[in-house]
Amino acid sequence: MRYHTNMKKNLNRHSEPITLLGGISAETFLKDYWHKKPLLIRGAIPEFEGFLTPNELAGLACEEDVQSRLISYVKKQWKLEQGPFAEKRFAKLPERDWTLLVQSVNHHLQEANDVLQQFNFIPFARLDDLMVSYAPDGGGVGPHFDSYDVFLLQGCGQRLWRISEQEDLSLVEGAPLRILQNFKTEQEFTLSAGDMLYLPPHVAHWGVAIGDCMTYSIGFRAPSAQELAAEFLNYLQENRTLSGMYADPDLALQEHPAEIGGSMVKQVTSILNGLKWNDADVADFLGLYLSEPKSHIVFDAPKNITLQAIEKRMKLHGIQLSFKSQLLKVANNYYLNGEAVNFVADNESLMITLADCRLLSAEDLSLPSKFSEDFVALMHDWYLAGCIIFSQ
Ligand code: SIN
Ligand code: CO
Repeated sequence: MRYHTNMKKNLNRHSEPITLLGGISAETFLKDYWHKKPLLIRGAIPEFEGFLTPNELAGLACEEDVQSRLISYVKKQWKLEQGPFAEKRFAKLPERDWTLLVQSVNHHLQEANDVLQQFNFIPFARLDDLMVSYAPDGGGVGPHFDSYDVFLLQGCGQRLWRISEQEDLSLVEGAPLRILQNFKTEQEFTLSAGDMLYLPPHVAHWGVAIGDCMTYSIGFRAPSAQELAAEFLNYLQENRTLSGMYADPDLALQEHPAEIGGSMVKQVTSILNGLKWNDADVADFLGLYLSEPKSHIVFDAPKNITLQAIEKRMKLHGIQLSFKSQLLKVANNYYLNGEAVNFVADNESLMITLADCRLLSAEDLSLPSKFSEDFVALMHDWYLAGCIIFSQ
């Protein structure tokens, strides 16, 4: 299932009611619910049963480059194990009260990317990942809150969600995961396959599997002000050179040699006031920072291929961003995986389609006049770096 052909239309159709949001439009959802209040949607993706079996999920959790956790509740104690797991770990699990969670499934599976494209009414810059969990009866991660906006989409089976907009968010001390001390159920819903619950950040929630169940969490993160400031200071450090030096030709005698004098403080203040930035600097910083892959991500580099072969295959199959790639646009600039993109402006319409749809179809690429040699050369570089793949 691909959404490419409808994508451009979709971008203009955000005022139409959609099933995914329970018959309201993306526009209404953003106005009334997003980042504000929970929304339960029955049959958000009708007939959605998920695209992974429990065994396939466990298989992913055994892989080196996949982040996974096993959480269990045994004798009233929470236990957390981090993956990757040895296959035999799954042979020794109890019948109930545990859950396996696999992060960033969208970095590995086309189907996960197809689901994410349905949420393209939210900017990609806000996306964190698609996480999949499996739990037998009673399993879950306990009552907690997240700092994320999350769409909890039910795959196979059923899960009981209890939610609360309580103010008391104090956590159990010493637990290996964030568990709320005093969770007070305000509303509860049983979700079946295809149902979805949207929760804004800090709404307390507790999902418990009713029999075997799988949940697909589409998470959108908002960076904290502290994180943004720290990252922006790093950016400034790498992108600014201040000229001149501290100078004190008028140095006056001080009573206390140990004292940092007022004139020194003043002069340094004036040097630091030379550090200026504007919206364009912040935009550049955001492009670099928000497209930067997480530190554990490794791109799979394919075998070498000539420019001619790339062009031929592009026209035949189309290309798409590899699953771990992030291509973002800010003002007139593009950023791929933490680097600014240099490209010829003539190819802007292809670049924006590739960024929005994460793919360019063979049709998009079939007319030779539609892209320049520079564009092929750029795709060649990206292909060799593992940032794009051929569409199947
Ligand atoms: C789960 O899938 O069990 C956890 C999702 C969540 O509560 O954030
Ligand atoms: Co949660």
